[in-house]
Order: sequence, then structure tokens, then C-alpha cells
Amino acid sequence: MEMLLFFLWVLTVVAADVPSGEQLLLFKQRQPEPVGILTRDNGAPVDFTEANFSLNISSLINHEYFMDTITHLSRERIPERVVHAKGAGAFGFFEVTHDISDICKAELFDGVGKTTPIAIRFSAVAADRGRNDLVSDARGFAVKFYTKAGNFDIVGLNTPVFVLKEPLGFPNFVHVNGRNPATNLFDNNMMWEFITYYPESLFLFLYIFSGFGTPYSYRYMPGFSIHTYQVENSIGDTHFIRFHIIPDLGVKNLSPEESFKIGAVDGDFYTRDLYDAIGEGNFPSWSVSIQVLSQYDVEHADFDVFDTTRLLPEDKYPLRPLGRIVLDRNPVNYFAEIEQIAFCPSNLVPGILGAPDKLFESRRLSYRDTQYYRLGANFKKIPVNCPYRSKVFTYERDGRPTFDSNGKDAPNYYPNSFFGPVPRVTCSNTRLLEIKQDPAYNFDQAAQLINDMSEEQRNNLVTNILQSLGTVTRLVQERVIQLISSVNPKIGEKIAVQIYLNRTLIDKLH
Ligand code: HEM
Ligand SMILES: *[C@@H]1O[C@H](CO)[C@@H](O)[C@H](O)[C@H]1NC(C)=O
Ligand SMILES: *[C@@H]1O[C@H](CO)[C@@H](O)[C@H](O)[C@H]1NC(C)=O
Ligand SMILES: *[C@@H]1O[C@H](CO)[C@@H](O)[C@H](O)[C@H]1NC(C)=O
Repeated sequence: MEMLLFFLWVLTVVAADVPSGEQLLLFKQRQPEPVGILTRDNGAPVDFTEANFSLNISSLINHEYFMDTITHLSRERIPERVVHAKGAGAFGFFEVTHDISDICKAELFDGVGKTTPIAIRFSAVAADRGRNDLVSDARGFAVKFYTKAGNFDIVGLNTPVFVLKEPLGFPNFVHVNGRNPATNLFDNNMMWEFITYYPESLFLFLYIFSGFGTPYSYRYMPGFSIHTYQVENSIGDTHFIRFHIIPDLGVKNLSPEESFKIGAVDGDFYTRDLYDAIGEGNFPSWSVSIQVLSQYDVEHADFDVFDTTRLLPEDKYPLRPLGRIVLDRNPVNYFAEIEQIAFCPSNLVPGILGAPDKLFESRRLSYRDTQYYRLGANFKKIPVNCPYRSKVFTYERDGRPTFDSNGKDAPNYYPNSFFGPVPRVTCSNTRLLEIKQDPAYNFDQAAQLINDMSEEQRNNLVTNILQSLGTVTRLVQERVIQLISSVNPKIGEKIAVQIYLNRTLIDKLH
């Protein structure tokens, strides 16, 4: 079975008759003659001689086509995302299959059968842009809904929990998952030590090391909002929901051996798989459901239901179906549509107030801040980020570069008496719930997760942990063994035995 899989992957990579291998040919089929006359970037036509020769002309400075081309090249790169740099994306739609108007009045949910265009970007968390897809890592699952009431983003992961609930820990988390400042190499010492100082993060890493770190492909990957969002219905009642987005193909992960083999052949496997599936008309789909809590549930739960390191138990808060997601279009231009897409938890619409926890609050700042840096002051005017199904009237003006009509000749200050944009009149005055949060605690759920694992998942967990922990210093190994043992003594012991055996071997050799 495994070998068969392996050969299939090799075939896919080598074969040219898949959409990713044939993209140029397909272009030519649609386009039987050159798309147009080559021009300079000022639109002036370029002659045959300009396009062919630069060596035998006396001054390159006068060669405008050469100058345009060579100076633009120097400016092709933009900063990659500080996290989630490597990813793939596609477009499609969300369709409401079940009415939730008793809970949430958001325009995109109002009416069974209603569809809303969406964009999705899947990503690895820690990997930089060129890194191998098959490296074990949590995965981003970000959805942008282009609703008539503005863009709504769910910026989630393929795990139902996050590493932290304490936002100041986030920069540390990013650093330990990145490269060592001296060696410029990924350094497992950093990551494992972080886990022992933020023990609540172990829960997420148990998901990663048991298989979620290497999904079968993005098409087999679930998405979770993680945060518990506050929502409101048309009469102003408040509820709290978590989104679950489950692949119709089933949740499936690769074993350590499979991911190693595929990674050795194709470091862009996840990107290729998504592009080819959609290109072949094999559209991936997901079912969207929600866990629902009333204000009463929130007040009477015996734990912090906004804790991003904890699950909301499904027996207590069962999944309620909401809709489905289908991806049916590949990006036409990756840089324009996927590299420049900007998700932000603060892209919210009427009826959805966001989550009241501190992590969410910090994310409201972080994403727009990084996107101003990464894409510039007018990143929301880039077509893929534009709320194109609602009309935008703001008092924001100018900035580098502005490439729409910039509010035309309307007044640029507020309030004014000259019919610039005015706020809508609404009777809703629902405010985000104010909460106070305790330190994270999730060892009970971490222990439960290991208990619920199949024998195979538990073996994969040990194999994956050993592969990563085997190379770190003994000091950190001790801290980790202690931590894992406190969650599950058996798994802790299995890991310890292998590590100590290895040490004995190594000590003998020396
Ligand atoms: C529940 C916790 C979190 C989840 C589920 C999450 C998820 C994601 C996802 C999916 C992306 C990739 C978006 C894309 O495809 O473009 C992303 C990017 C990012 N995240 Fe988070 N994240 C979380 C927590 C945080 C926190 C606490 C911060 C900072 C305070 C943060 C800062 C960022 C930044 C700066 C980016 C890069 C955005 C860009 O350059 O466009 N994240 N996150
Ligand atoms: C110049 O460009 C044209 C059009 O692409 C091509 O047919 C021709 O072979 C080129 N000549 C040289 C000398 O490169
Ligand atoms: C450069 O050389 C080519 C080939 O000899 C010739 O056709 C072309 O006119 C020359 N260009 C200039 C600017 O001298
Ligand atoms: C054993 O030690 C070697 C060398 O340090 C290391 O590469 C390997 O990951 C270790 N394996 C285990 C199970 O500790």
C-alpha cells in the first residue's frame, strides 16, 4: 500500500498531463496567437530590435525597455508573511444549508441556499516560503467571505486549539519555530524548551505529532476558528459560537514514513495536489458547522470557554450544521491573488462581533499592522482584498500607492454638512462581552486526547516526537520527558526509554 502510494506520487510529479504540468500549454490552447504587442510599461510598443538586442548598443541608459525591465526585477520581492509564509489558495463559494437566524443575523447566513463567494489560503505555520511542505507543522486554514455586508474572515488552523492564550507569548512562539539566530538553522532545542515553559502548548503539539502536522493533503484537512465568537441575532440576543470546517473527503493524515517519502520527491506536494484537483474539476468541499453556547452556558461553564488552548466538549456543545464550502477555481495569478491576500480576524460583519479573549484582541492589531508593512497602506484596495460585494465609503485618503478613485471629490472629513458618507442608523447596541481570563489550563484535555488515540496514532506520536526530540540537548530532553510524563506516564516512559537507550549507545561509542 505504502509503496503504491509512493509510486503514485512520483508519477504525479513526473507526469506532464496534470493541470500543474500543463499550465503553459493550456494557456496556449486558449490563446492561439500572442496576447498582444509587447510594450514598455508606459504602453509604448517595443520594436523587435529592442526586445532582442542590448549588447551592441552604445548606451544601455537610452534602452528604455531594458531599463524598465531590469529595474522592475529588483523590486519583485515583498516581505514574506512573518508566519504562515508558505501556502496555497483557491476560490469558491460558501452555501447555507441550515438556518441559524435564531442565533446570528449576519447577511451571509440569512437564508438556506444562499451562496457567498470565498477565498481560502492553506499554509504551514512556521515554514518560510521555500520550505518543504511535508515538514511537520500546524497548518493555517483561512477563509475570506466576500459578503454583501463587507468581508468576513475566519483565520483558523487545522487543529481545534492554539498554543497559547497569552498574547505576549506569541512572538516567542514565532521565534522558537524559526531559525536559530547564529546557525540560521531550525533548532528543535528552542521549540521543545518553549513547550516546557508554556506547558499549555503541549496539547497543540500532541495534535501535530500524532499526524495533524502532515495532513494527507489540504483537501483532507479540517479548519477550526478556535476562538469562541460572540454573535447576535436580529432582536439583539447574544450567542457564542465556534466554527468547525470538516472536509467531505474525511480527515486524513500521513504517517511519518509516507510524509518522509513524499517530501523527498516533492517539497511542493500540497500546493500541487490542490492545484491539480481543482484544475481537473475534482472540487474539494467541506461541511461547516458550529458549536453554540448561550450567555447562560458561558456564565455557568466550569472552565473558560474562550480559552484558545481548550476544546469545547462536543457532548456538551454539539455541532450544529450550517453550510458547505466548495473550492472550484484556481488562482489565475498566484502573486496577485494568493501572496497578496490579507486575512484578518478583525474583518467582521454586522451580527458577528469577534471573540472577547485577549488573544483575539491582540490579533485585531497584529494582522493589519503586519499587512501595512507587508503590502502597504492601501492593501485593502488590492482586488483580492477588496470588499467587492459591498460599497466602500471611508474617510481614509491617499497613501502609497492609491490605485482606485480615492474617494473621488467627496468630503474627506467627518462629520460634515455636505453629504459625505454617514453611519447607518441601527437599533443594535450589543457590545462585546467583557471577560477576565485565568492562566491557561488544558492538561485534562491533553491527557484525554492521548487516551482517545488509536494504537497507530499513539505510535506515530512517539515516532514523531523522538524524531524531533532525539537531537536536542539532554537538559531540554529531561524537561520534556518530565512534562510529557505528567500528562501521560506511559508515553513519557516510552520516549524516555528510547532516549536513554540512545544515550547509552552514544556514550559507549565515545
Ligand atoms: C488562535 C490563534 C491563531 C490562529 C488560528 C492563527 C492563524 C493564522 C493564519 C491561518 C494565518 C495565515 C493567513 C494567510 O493565509 O495569509 C496567520 C497569519 C498571521 N498571524 Fe496568526 N493565528 C493565531 C494567532 C496569532 C496571534 C496571537 C498573532 C499575533 C498577536 C498572530 C499573528 C499573525 C501574523 C502577523 C500573520 C501574518 C499575516 C500576514 O502577513 O498576512 N497570529 N495566522
Ligand atoms: C528575436 O526575437 C524574435 C521574436 O521572439 C525571435 O524570433 C528571434 O529569433 C530573435 N532573434 C535573436 C537573434 O535572438
Ligand atoms: C545590433 O545587432 C543586430 C544584429 O547584428 C542588428 O540587427 C541590430 O540592428 C543592431 N542594433 C543596433 C542598435 O545597432
Ligand atoms: C539518537 O541520537 C542521535 C545522535 O544524537 C540522534 O540523531 C537521534 O535522533 C537520536 N534518537 C533518539 C531516539 O533519541
